Amino acid sequence: MAGTLDEDKVKNWFQTQTREVAAPADPAALEVLLARRSDPSVAERAVRSGALAADGIPLPPQELIDWVGGGDAHVFQTVGLLNFWQLVVYARLQSDQRVLEPGCGCGRNARYLAPFLSRERGGYEGFDLHRPSIDWASDHVSRRYPNVRFGFADIRNTNYNPNGSLFDADYLFPYESGTFDVVFLPSVFTHLTRPGFEHYVREIARVLVPGGRLLSWHFLLDDVTRERVRAGASALPLEEFDEVSWAMERDNPCAAIAFEDAFVLETLASSGLQPQFVAHGTWSGRVPDGLVDAQDRILAVRTD
Ligand SMILES: C[S@@+](CC[C@H](N)C(=O)[O-])C[C@H]1O[C@@H](n2cnc3c(N)ncnc32)[C@H](O)[C@@H]1O
Repeated sequence: MAGTLDEDKVKNWFQTQTREVAAPADPAALEVLLARRSDPSVAERAVRSGALAADGIPLPPQELIDWVGGGDAHVFQTVGLLNFWQLVVYARLQSDQRVLEPGCGCGRNARYLAPFLSRERGGYEGFDLHRPSIDWASDHVSRRYPNVRFGFADIRNTNYNPNGSLFDADYLFPYESGTFDVVFLPSVFTHLTRPGFEHYVREIARVLVPGGRLLSWHFLLDDVTRERVRAGASALPLEEFDEVSWAMERDNPCAAIAFEDAFVLETLASSGLQPQFVAHGTWSGRVPDGLVDAQDRILAVRTD
């Protein structure tokens, strides 16, 4: 059944999203949140590492903040901090490990990872299709942290780069196989259609070490979320796009796209990435507002 596209809901969507993830971006408040998690010892190490201060990295210009979802400086910092925190708590990131972030934007998350990672043994690579974001991050983060690096690729995307010269479904990640301990993608698989998603999963499995972890963000369709979208009860209005996905805008599916959860879990598993858990976000209204993330998250481990 195709849903009806509600213009006001579309306009309100990103505002709603930022409200839902809003949590205090100050270390003391975050520490309280962290203390409630199952393994506070790991989280506390991250807090104490000083990573919360982003170690003097300046804020990017507003247009680069807008590129990764908008909001003011407070929202920008809060989201980056919470993404970093989830990486430490859920994916068990250690400071001597190597991290990849496809779709890294201007380094909203990298600014918190940089002071956390060991300069000698840890490292971060990010790539994105937006050259101004990559240039800014290289100038302001890599210059200070040479083990945190950013790369540009002119990948086509209906929403972000409609005239790009490279197809996402063909793009070979420019890293050797088995390079990374952790790969993470906050709010990136929610902007790729099926062929790009399937190809990126294969590339991620290739560049992860055995035992490496993938933490990815999604809009997942199941009986509950499909029904809520049909009833207009979801903050994200969607209509059927293809046999495995529903999109917010049919002509621009990469604006926001949701996939059947069984398809996502099967795609991961068939590439050797065994899903460990799904944490539902607030986007469909199935869990109450005030939890940390609007999007659903999956942790998967490369098993060989
Ligand atoms: C909502 S933003 C999230 C950015 C970043 N992950 C964060 O959490 O701050 C989505 C990002 O994905 C990038 N992007 C979209 N399609 C991509 C693709 N196929 N490959 C790499 N980056 C992509 C966009 O340019 C944008 O920077």
